Amino acid sequence: MHFTLVGAGAVGTLWGLTLQEAGHHVHFWTRAEQTSLTRSLESQAEQHFPANNPALLADSDCILVCVKAFQVDTALNSLLPHLHQDTPVILMHNGMGTAQSALEKLGTFPLLLATTSQASLLLSETTIRHTGIGETRLGGINPSGKRCDFLTEVLNHALPPCAWENKIEQALWQKLAINCMINPLTGIFQIQNGELTKPEYSDQLHQLASEIALVMRAEGIDTDSDTVLQRTLSVANATATNYSSMNRDVFFKRASEIDAITGYLIHCANRHRIATPENQALYLAIKNLEQSYDHP
Ligand code: PAF
Repeated sequence: MHFTLVGAGAVGTLWGLTLQEAGHHVHFWTRAEQTSLTRSLESQAEQHFPANNPALLADSDCILVCVKAFQVDTALNSLLPHLHQDTPVILMHNGMGTAQSALEKLGTFPLLLATTSQASLLLSETTIRHTGIGETRLGGINPSGKRCDFLTEVLNHALPPCAWENKIEQALWQKLAINCMINPLTGIFQIQNGELTKPEYSDQLHQLASEIALVMRAEGIDTDSDTVLQRTLSVANATATNYSSMNRDVFFKRASEIDAITGYLIHCANRHRIATPENQALYLAIKNLEQSYDHP
């Protein structure tokens, strides 16, 4: 198949490399003005990719959008003039809240959302380390997207495990819960994910999990505080030596995905009149950090 990967960050690069290794044609669509990219997994030889070629974009059988939530709108605007109406578009990012505007923009395009727990770390502009294996779950959010379950097999062949979800919102909420727990804490304290399994974080994690579970239940997701906590601890263990994406954003003084993660949770909590003081405190702490960056 012909894939266009939108975004050449840690996750986009991981998918680009593995899809190309699996025999697919991969083209990158990125902010950089290059017409070719070189990428490698730390342990493997470099691979070369064409980039930013409108003809290759138009010829794609599938578009995998791996930019951050707050970059999705701009990315879709740049893609739209070149795409055929029947090209499946998959949005894969941390956080929630982009679906509605993507549906409005893409109309009848097959639109899918995906969430991945594959852990990937950018070591340099061009090299990544695959630091943890985790499941990728995808599902359609409009009628034509819901008919694209064949893509699960394709993605699973390149980077397993992948699973199809008839109710992708449920999987997105489960991942959002994990990101609400891991990302702000590892960002604020500048620690690896595995540190969160230590006793000093236990009270805070319990408190976060109980607020998150209340909001999820109000949103119609069947869960409880203990399930949220245990899932988070198991991801923190599986990615123990990984620095979360928000940890890296804070470290490099970049804008984080806090609005699409904790911000989205708080937005839903407010709608249901649920108090989320612990999540609000983390949200404000990350926002304060972002405001302190000294940008030129
Ligand atoms: O954002 C991240 O870094 C990842 O989603 C996760 C699962 C927290 C692992 O680091």
